[in-house]
Amino acid sequence: MKIQVIHGPNLNLLGRREPDIYGSETLDDIDAKILDEAKRFGAEVRFFQSNVEGELVTAVQDAWDWAEAVIINPGAYTHTSIALRDAISAIEVPVIEVHLSNVHARERFRRHSYISPVAVGQISGFGPQGYVLALHAALGLEAGG
Ligand code: DQA
Repeated sequence: MKIQVIHGPNLNLLGRREPDIYGSETLDDIDAKILDEAKRFGAEVRFFQSNVEGELVTAVQDAWDWAEAVIINPGAYTHTSIALRDAISAIEVPVIEVHLSNVHARERFRRHSYISPVAVGQISGFGPQGYVLALHAALGLEAGG
């Protein structure tokens, strides 16, 4: 299975950024974890990170030509970006939304996601393990359940 992983703004700072909320693992650590798990299942994974909304929109569009599932942590664009939502709506590829922190247990503005209504589902609050859970969810979609 081909899976595109997309990381949104400020996730390049993981490990240094508010470690009490986001933990001490870097984005490279997290990508390595996803890759290890993907290899176990023979899945092919590509990674993309950007702090720029339009680049994330383009990455979602590009995934349509290659990926069979998308795992995205849209960062703060989760709560603001209609453009990202529209891109996810447009592509005929299942999208799984991931957040490291439990966005429902934090500030009120984080409870609203423009992405969730057009995603297959949301995984929130499990730290880096959330990406592994998302990978399993994607593989489950391929298996038909
Ligand atoms: C986040 C949660 C968002 O509210 C926040 O803006 C982020 C990270 C998470 O992974 O917990 O940048 O998506």
